[in-house]
Amino acid sequence: MFPEIDRILVTREQIAQRVTAMASEIVRDLKADLEKDGESPLDEDRVIIIPIMTGAMIFVADLVRELPMKLSLGLVAVSSYPGESVTSKGAHLASELPADLEGKHIIVLDDILDSGQTLATVKALIQEQNPASLRMGVMLDKKTNRTIDVKVDYVGFEIPDEFVVGYGLDFNGYYRNYPEIAVLKPDAIPSR
Ligand code: IMP
Ligand code: MG
Repeated sequence: MFPEIDRILVTREQIAQRVTAMASEIVRDLKADLEKDGESPLDEDRVIIIPIMTGAMIFVADLVRELPMKLSLGLVAVSSYPGESVTSKGAHLASELPADLEGKHIIVLDDILDSGQTLATVKALIQEQNPASLRMGVMLDKKTNRTIDVKVDYVGFEIPDEFVVGYGLDFNGYYRNYPEIAVLKPDAIPSR
């Protein structure tokens, strides 16, 4: 089924546990923000979760079901890895950002933070719309690869600089449906 998978880096049990923990961190922070604004967190409709497509879809599907509050989803697509490439070629928006983010509490979520280009690009564009708050979260952080300084509020796991697939992450469009986070066999990926 998945002949090119070499080894598993993060198991589905580890992922599930961490997603639950991240959800509580997010709920805690959003509740604090909304209470500061004098609003009841359970019925105020000022929370917008922005998954960066396509990689964040599985992570966000799991996470939002653990956020017991009124919220909406606003998708954005960012492209940084054309075709079979495994290094970022600089991020650009491949879809429009949701409009009307002014005064809203925004959480941007992505599968992985690598060079930082993707989140830095999205962050700058969202800030132009004057949200009430803007936080960012990622399932994985490849800390050693940063080319641009970007702070994230929620991190699932820090991982070494290896190209990973599964749980939403792809190589050339495939393996997003692999349920664990895994490393491909070296001969399956072009050398960087
Ligand atoms: P950045 O813009 O370099 O931070 O890269 C972030 C984007 O690159 C993520 O949204 C992923 O789509 C992709 N990416 C980075 N590292 C990996 C990886 O190891 N496997 C699959 N996709 C990756
Ligand atoms: Mg991506």
